[in-house]
Amino acid sequence: MIFETLLIRGCEVVGPDGVTQADLLIEDGRILKMGRGIRHARARVIDASGMLVFPGLVDMHTHLREPGQERSETIETACRAAVAGGYTAVVAMPNTNPPVDSPEIVVSVRSKANAVRLVDVEVAACVTRHRSGYRPTEMGRLAGLGVRLFTDDGTCVRSAAALKLALTNSARMGFIVADHPEEPSLVGEDLVSQSLEEESRFGYGARERRGVGCINEGEISSRLGLPVRPREAETVIVSRDLAILAAVGGRLHLQHLSTSDSFDLLKRAKESGLSVTAEVAPHHLVFTEEAASGCDPVYKVNPPLRTRFDLEAAREALVEGVVDVVATDHAPHAPELKELAFEEAPAGIASIEIAFSLLYTELVCNGVLSIQDLVRLMSSRPAEILGLEDHGGPLQEGSAANVAVFDPSRTWEYDPSVSYSKAKASPYAGRKFNGRVVLTIYRGQVVFEEERSGD
Ligand code: DOR
Ligand code: ZN
Repeated sequence: MIFETLLIRGCEVVGPDGVTQADLLIEDGRILKMGRGIRHARARVIDASGMLVFPGLVDMHTHLREPGQERSETIETACRAAVAGGYTAVVAMPNTNPPVDSPEIVVSVRSKANAVRLVDVEVAACVTRHRSGYRPTEMGRLAGLGVRLFTDDGTCVRSAAALKLALTNSARMGFIVADHPEEPSLVGEDLVSQSLEEESRFGYGARERRGVGCINEGEISSRLGLPVRPREAETVIVSRDLAILAAVGGRLHLQHLSTSDSFDLLKRAKESGLSVTAEVAPHHLVFTEEAASGCDPVYKVNPPLRTRFDLEAAREALVEGVVDVVATDHAPHAPELKELAFEEAPAGIASIEIAFSLLYTELVCNGVLSIQDLVRLMSSRPAEILGLEDHGGPLQEGSAANVAVFDPSRTWEYDPSVSYSKAKASPYAGRKFNGRVVLTIYRGQVVFEEERSGD
């Protein structure tokens, strides 16, 4: 492969301790030189004065929808969306159709992602066969293939015994067991479980979603008369998982935590020395259940949008370092599915293209986090947890050139109709952002460059 030599000039490099001005010379997929006043006769020069440059973002929670749900997204559209958002590595969730529960499917998703070659795709596998929650997958064989993370995301690992086995294996083999913490019987999904094998074969539709919880339990849900997903559904599984972790060890990662109670439990577990990490999703940092009160399905997501108190607790958990990572839970759905009634529409919000701009605007510009905090939460820490040595920085001479260039002075309005993702219904439509990813470099090559047409 022929690499173009790139000279990024005059940028502000975001490191773990702050921002320093430097030029970056990139050649053969690596950062060859970093410092001031670098010159090079042949390089393509990118004038990046005033731009922030940081290690490419790493998303621990991305739904690529292949195989089987290509109407909603494909590996290629998801990866294009990812690089437009400044990501250079993503973890592909296994709740596809069929789910990623065998070595054959891991290999097939991986080879498609390699053909696209826009970001590193870490293929996660299910904890249980058919993602049905009970019969474990062949974790040893899958780990042997390099699977770093197991999850039944979409639902929790239903059987506590299956979770115990997974964590026991994790302690021996080193992989991560990630869980979507919501107790199925408390969110109206215990009946759905009976048909899960069929669901995983055929996908499940609007009819089956009727009666399944779709909104936080509280005044708003009572007024609307909708089936609920109460906060204690999350508390129950977080507590269960931590109890099993304390008993057998291993590495537990809690996905998209959404309640103050979860953050309290997480904090205590960490204080007691348990090997647990956790993520929050962007939507839980910017929306509350109020947003869903108009029954617009763009605000339907699992776990649901919670209260103002929970949102503040999530932000505090980031500030205090209780939560390790912001992961997008990029969950695209075909536009026609998000046009169904609230109760029947699928849950999920697509955000990988705008997550960094959103949180830069809401948290960095408002003084909640520093820029280096945000880069740690969205790049360095997830890379460290996953053991992705070529990602997460710090950017320095010799390191792999996975880099995002961000223009903090750009203000823009998000128009999902021109997004790379196939998900066009978005709660962020028309939202104004400060700052935009203008260039993404993956292994030394420019994989995204903003054409200044979207303003
Ligand atoms: O809202 C959600 N959508 N939450 C999940 O856990 C799964 C995801 C999906 O796959 O659509
Ligand atoms: Zn989930």
